[in-house]
Amino acid sequence: MKVKSKLNKKFISVSTPHISNQDIKSVVNVLKKGWISSDGPEVKTFEKKFSKKIKRKFSVAVSSGTAALEIAIKSLNLNKNDEVIIPNFTIISNALAVIKQKAKPVLIDCDMKTWNMKLEDLEKKITKKTKAIIITHIYSFSNDMDKIKKICKKKGIFLIEDAAEVIGLKYKDKYCGSFGDISTFSFYANKQLTTGEGGMISTNNIRLFKKCKSLRNLCFGNKQRFNHEDIGWNYRLTNIQATLGISQLERLDKVVRKKMYIGNYYYKRLSTNKNIYMTPPKISFSKNIYWVVGIVIKNKKVLASSIIKKLAKFGIGARPFFWPMHEQKIFKKMKIFDNTKYPNSSYLGRYGFYIPSHPKISNTEMNFVISKINGLL
Ligand SMILES: Cc1ncc(COP(=O)(O)O)c(C=O)c1O
Repeated sequence: MKVKSKLNKKFISVSTPHISNQDIKSVVNVLKKGWISSDGPEVKTFEKKFSKKIKRKFSVAVSSGTAALEIAIKSLNLNKNDEVIIPNFTIISNALAVIKQKAKPVLIDCDMKTWNMKLEDLEKKITKKTKAIIITHIYSFSNDMDKIKKICKKKGIFLIEDAAEVIGLKYKDKYCGSFGDISTFSFYANKQLTTGEGGMISTNNIRLFKKCKSLRNLCFGNKQRFNHEDIGWNYRLTNIQATLGISQLERLDKVVRKKMYIGNYYYKRLSTNKNIYMTPPKISFSKNIYWVVGIVIKNKKVLASSIIKKLAKFGIGARPFFWPMHEQKIFKKMKIFDNTKYPNSSYLGRYGFYIPSHPKISNTEMNFVISKINGLL
């Protein structure tokens, strides 16, 4: 068939950034004005507009979502061996932020229906040493923030909300990223809002805001600039990136609607396949943002890595799911975790993968992907 052979030549990538003419114009404008580093008006405007969008008092723009998490954890002044609960099925940045502060990450397995942290296990894992929880919204849905906030309040622990993947998604009627004592975001190229590389920290707490702002910028002294107050980083965002962020923020809702359309389109046509599981378009408290359109192969039929290789031969990009924290090579070497098993995360790591879902994908391309997946599984 003509369409197929044409598509076979053009690789359908998992993710492509969505850059508009307006984005390009704004960046060129900033370059012409000479505001190319972090000192300048665009960073502040981006922070203000971002705070307004998600209804938080303060935001601090940083160089990545990983940097945002590191700063967030450091701002809590944890002691050695303090415990921080994190999901086991997540990006390594969650664990790294804790380990780098010499605190202890405590893992919780994921739920097989939503892929988010298994909330039933949360209270069981809280001890006297627990100082914080990183709650991460994974791939599809918001976590149940009312429940989580209630537990954090009852036990007196900090809530860090990692909203890197769900910018623009709401829990009930409020944006994800507006619930944590500190919330973090990523603006990497595959996110709904991108600055190339970049991230944001948002909070309503002025003390934490000031601390995060200082940590982003080498903790320069207040009275004597080059007499530093703490061990900080250069995790600054540039005005070039911030201006792209401002421009992208204007059409965030449109991009989110498109992501949802794409996810729904695939779900309607693939979820009838008995050999796969996909997250549905909504659950009681959250729509599915389909940051990635994930597929889990049922009953260990075949490893995801094998399907990914086969899809590549058809010119279709696909990626494996996260590899669980307790099975990470480096953490085994460092003996960070004991031998506890986390069967759900282990299953998703082996049998989960995601398919092309960038905002520019066409229905024809999606139909091609669907036909190949249904042929293979
Ligand atoms: C949940 C989550 N948190 C943090 C990050 C890290 O963000 P970055 O790549 O901007 O460092 C990612 C990356 O995609 C992520 O998925």
